[in-house]
Amino acid sequence: MFTSLRSRLWLTYALVIGVILVILAFGLFVYVVRNPAVDRQAIQKLDLAAQVVLRRIGEDTSLLKHRNEFQNASEYFSVRMIIFRPDRSILIDTEENAPALNWPEKGASPPDRGAIYDQEGKRWLYTSRPLSQKAILVVATPKQGGLRLLKSSQFWEIIKDEFLPPFFRAGGVAFLLALILGFWMSRWVATPLNRMVDATRDVAAGEYRLIPLKGPAEVKVLAQAFNEMSARVKASQQSQKDFVANVSHELKTPLTSIQGFSQAILDGTVDSLESLGQAAGIIHAESSRMYRLVVDLLDLARLDAGTAALNRESLNVEALLRGVVDKFAPQAEEANISLKLVVEPVPTCIGDADRLAQVFTNLVDNALKHTPPAGEVSIHAGYQKETINISITDTGEGIPQEALSRVFERFYQVDKSRKNGEKPSTGLGLAIAQQIIQAHQGKITVNSTMGEGSVFVVHLPAILPDDTTVMKRI
Ligand SMILES: Nc1ncnc2c1ncn2[C@@H]1O[C@H](COP(=O)(O)OP(=O)(O)OP(=O)(O)O)[C@@H](O)[C@H]1O
Ligand SMILES: [Mg+2]
Repeated sequence: MFTSLRSRLWLTYALVIGVILVILAFGLFVYVVRNPAVDRQAIQKLDLAAQVVLRRIGEDTSLLKHRNEFQNASEYFSVRMIIFRPDRSILIDTEENAPALNWPEKGASPPDRGAIYDQEGKRWLYTSRPLSQKAILVVATPKQGGLRLLKSSQFWEIIKDEFLPPFFRAGGVAFLLALILGFWMSRWVATPLNRMVDATRDVAAGEYRLIPLKGPAEVKVLAQAFNEMSARVKASQQSQKDFVANVSHELKTPLTSIQGFSQAILDGTVDSLESLGQAAGIIHAESSRMYRLVVDLLDLARLDAGTAALNRESLNVEALLRGVVDKFAPQAEEANISLKLVVEPVPTCIGDADRLAQVFTNLVDNALKHTPPAGEVSIHAGYQKETINISITDTGEGIPQEALSRVFERFYQVDKSRKNGEKPSTGLGLAIAQQIIQAHQGKITVNSTMGEGSVFVVHLPAILPDDTTVMKRI
């Protein structure tokens, strides 16, 4: 019951209209009971009677002489006329036998109108006028107005016959109106939500589409958030698909060659010892390539899941880079590339030495692979704004502008057909490097000019002697 937006809206409308009706009915009831219109009419009559009698007596000060005038006017208008002396005693009363009227409290500043009680507690409406010698004329009539004075059986009859039927009729119309309005409003509110429900179902079914940004502001914000989420889910699904396709492709290539050469050995096609050695060599190289790929993928998976254990040790950046440069020195010399290292004074850094060495090994390896003979690869370490910046600059072929943002993607290689020496390359090096640097709360950036060279910069948070915050961050 009332679980849907539509029924709740309708209920809200019905309640609001119901409450308004009850308030109106209450107001009307009070009005009918008090009936101020009848009172007003009576007061008008009193005013008129007072006016007429005052005109008759004119300026004459002997009021008693005019007793008959008062009597006639009171009979003519069916009102009671009383003249109070200044000491509040009664001089003339046209209904002497009736219970005496009390002195009107506000009577001291006539003319005045209102209600007063007689000595039996009955209510009278009155109007008063000043007379000569500070006497006061009070013209009064019993208060008639309203249902209050009716007997209770009459009262309920009037309520039942005159009051309740129009009230229920109005109530019925109001509820009908609430129904129509509620229905219309709920459609108005629910339509954009229904659009979203449809879109969500489509996303669940694998169809990513954008919801138009229409409807109330809150719904628009929701639609926008939904579109963003949908775009991200789509991108992540696509990257997952690409990843699986890439992995299969990368594994298939060495496997095909291993299968081909081992089949040839089995078939006896490889007959000489020399070709057998060649086949074994290829099988070995391809299986190494597969091994490397699997190791890299496992590495990435662990870094992705955050389960790759990082050794948090305080390390010397210069020693770390020196180790990498020493490892590549023979390869650089062989390729006739000058490999330089410049380290400015930098603070100690907290991190995993092996993992960081893996990052710089890949960066230097990439730089050497893509730099022609007589080129230069230089490594520079500096310190600025609590960050250690290590750049690896080469004078190689460069990376095309459109490829710059993609080199950190898994398996992305600018030129896949390039043979980069003996060592098999998977296109995972930079993706792994980026994950490792991010795990150290750092970042890695690239810049390149075609034909002039590329520069990769690793930014790592430094730890100062009296600073332990970085220690906590890693
Ligand atoms: N210094 C560089 N100069 C020119 N191109 C580069 C440079 N560094 C990287 N690239 C391009 O970026 C691609 C991705 O590099 P990455 O290190 O991820 O893979 P890889 O070196 O091809 O393979 P792996 O590192 O797994 O052996 C490279 O294939 C290359 O096309
Ligand atoms: Mg590489």
